[in-house]
Amino acid sequence: MTSASQEARELAVTAEVVASFDGAQSARYRQVMQSLVRHIHEFVRDVRLTDAEWHEAFGFLTRTGHMCDDRRQEFVLLSDVLGLSMLTVAVNELADSAATQSTVFGPFYVENSPEIALGGDLAAGAVGQPCWVEGTVRGVDGEPVSGARIDVWEADGDGLYDVQYDSARTSNRGHLFTDAAGGFRFWSVRPVAYPIPSDGPVGRLLEAAGRGAMRPAHIHFMIRAAGHHKLTTHIFVAGDEYLGDDAVFGVKERLVAEFVDHPATNPTPPGGPVGSDWSSVSYDFVLASDGRSG
Ligand code: BEZ
Ligand code: FE
Repeated sequence: MTSASQEARELAVTAEVVASFDGAQSARYRQVMQSLVRHIHEFVRDVRLTDAEWHEAFGFLTRTGHMCDDRRQEFVLLSDVLGLSMLTVAVNELADSAATQSTVFGPFYVENSPEIALGGDLAAGAVGQPCWVEGTVRGVDGEPVSGARIDVWEADGDGLYDVQYDSARTSNRGHLFTDAAGGFRFWSVRPVAYPIPSDGPVGRLLEAAGRGAMRPAHIHFMIRAAGHHKLTTHIFVAGDEYLGDDAVFGVKERLVAEFVDHPATNPTPPGGPVGSDWSSVSYDFVLASDGRSG
């Protein structure tokens, strides 16, 4: 319980800081910063933050910064486990229920991935069960989108992305372009559930909360085509035990797909494995048009 004079002193601090942004040249910058100040000040008042907690918080943020480099983005991970990434996806998602839903981008996308021919092998030596992935890209009008660029990235059968290995080898990532009928197809590996990196401050945060670090099995897609909104999404494996317990809150029901198991004796699409079991999945993406209000 704070007295009226105590509350007035606290609110005066906030008012002074908010006013310090009044002269910002960019109206958007002013709006964002003043709102940020109001909300974090309100948070401090709400929890009655102690000095010790303030020091602990900034120690945590410092450790998070020290964990960041070209290959590890601990701040993105922090945003992901706090649900900020998915909330930002939700705020920016177009209200077009016909379009495929977006989900979290994650920290493992790499620019300039190799181009893969349609029907080619994205796995490039990654461990895991071979998996045939095919589908179409269409607009919300149902028309096929040809020439769409599809970037794909995925953890291997041990649950690790290529960038998590010491070698500089690129595997299980690449891009390809849809054919005249909007079709795409490639060989990859069957995704498995894996833990997000938890050897840093974000891992300690999850532990302290009694939360798990697992992500359900998924394949990442980013699809870009002229005249359409960029789509950043995953397809998830139906039946995965972590679908209801994703460490980064990324699962959406319509992104869950049936992966079909095939024994080694089933004939494969061209380029398939000889003498090993394999799986397949088919998923059709729908892109929202540019200029659509959302
Ligand atoms: C991922 O799916 O690659 C991912 C997303 C958020 C945090 C960590 C990993
Ligand atoms: Fe992932």
